[in-house]
Amino acid sequence: MKLLVKIIAIALFSLFLSDFTRAQPGAFDISKFGGAPNADITQAFLSAWKEACASTVAAKITIPSGSYRMNAVDVKGPCKAPIEIQVDGTIQAPANPSDLKGADQWIKINYVDSVTVSGHGIFDGQGAAAWKINDCGSNKNCKMLCMNFGFNFVKNSVVRDITSKDSKDFHFNVLGCSNFTFDGVKIDAPATSLNTDGIHIGRSTGIKILNTKIGTGDDCISLGDGSKQITVQNVNCGPGHGISVGSLGRYPNEEPVEGFYVTNCTLTNTANGVRIKTWPDSTGTSPITDMHFEDITMVNVMNPVIIDQEYCPWNQCNKQSPSKIKISKVSFKNIKGTSGTADGVLLTCSSSVPCEEVELANIDLTFNGAAATAKCANVKPTITGKVPACAST
Ligand SMILES: *[C@@H]1O[C@H](CO)[C@@H](O)[C@H](O)[C@H]1NC(C)=O
Ligand SMILES: *[C@@H]1O[C@H](CO)[C@@H](O)[C@H](O)[C@H]1NC(C)=O
Repeated sequence: MKLLVKIIAIALFSLFLSDFTRAQPGAFDISKFGGAPNADITQAFLSAWKEACASTVAAKITIPSGSYRMNAVDVKGPCKAPIEIQVDGTIQAPANPSDLKGADQWIKINYVDSVTVSGHGIFDGQGAAAWKINDCGSNKNCKMLCMNFGFNFVKNSVVRDITSKDSKDFHFNVLGCSNFTFDGVKIDAPATSLNTDGIHIGRSTGIKILNTKIGTGDDCISLGDGSKQITVQNVNCGPGHGISVGSLGRYPNEEPVEGFYVTNCTLTNTANGVRIKTWPDSTGTSPITDMHFEDITMVNVMNPVIIDQEYCPWNQCNKQSPSKIKISKVSFKNIKGTSGTADGVLLTCSSSVPCEEVELANIDLTFNGAAATAKCANVKPTITGKVPACAST
């Protein structure tokens, strides 16, 4: 009798459970939309997004482990409730750039409030064929290839844990966003892949990049104009070109860059460490202010600490015509490790608008076992602790 009661109770409970999972609102597994491993899930993803975005309770699209193919997708909010895309599978973009039919971003998410991209999945841009046709090293008007992710005018959002691999161009482009966090993300492409910036931010406020590991062929993190209140913490960068502000000043309508807080980062075998770069002989005048770099470890970094206001790739500008961008309130504190060049600190400020309120504190960099040197132009840094003395450039 007791046993029978137990069996009935268990049966009722499991009925309730199965009913609960079936009817669970807000759950959108890609398989419900015809998305299956080893197949193209472009349409399934778009259908799942459409329903998830219309859901009045928090929605979650799941792409479970397995291998999938997907062409470019371009989705928009506003959505009715927060939305999460949890990817545990590997999704591959078309390898041939022309198969993307001119899309500038493979996964483009626009005008959403509260989107989370999470999971242990891999977004594989299959960029190898694209890198071969990239001519940005020699052509200043080179065509942008397809980036892995574009977040445009998105707010209160998070990208967590996922991996972006072998993007054809930038891995992540963040434009017009606010209160947006990257946490535990991995970015992975070879050192030789052209133009594959890890995370590029422009015209955005309140962006955090935390606990992230970036190895790529261009800047690990780059800030374009209008970047404000950007925090970078516990980031490993390398290979790559480092953590960079700019280049700025090339265009007339740029917005100021203010508030950059980089702490507890390690750069390994990168072409630069922490860098601010602006163009000479150009129209841009928007200032750069409040840039702070603290507790940074350099491992064989070519230019560990650098302000370069004579940034002029392709040698197409006149360095005699100084940059018009004012740089102020910059600090480099507790920077240690090894430099790949004799000048561990290179501050080349503009002769028309010298840098102001630049602070150097506890810079302990070595080159071939000896203390690295510092060169400075058009700047008189405040010095605290052990710092190499500025020589003129
Ligand atoms: C920022 O976004 C996160 C994630 O959506 C959210 O939890 C938090 O409340 C937002 N903060 C503000 C100040 O809106
Ligand atoms: C600094 O970063 C390392 C990993 O690179 C991490 O283990 C450590 O907890 C971080 N320290 C702080 C104070 O966040």
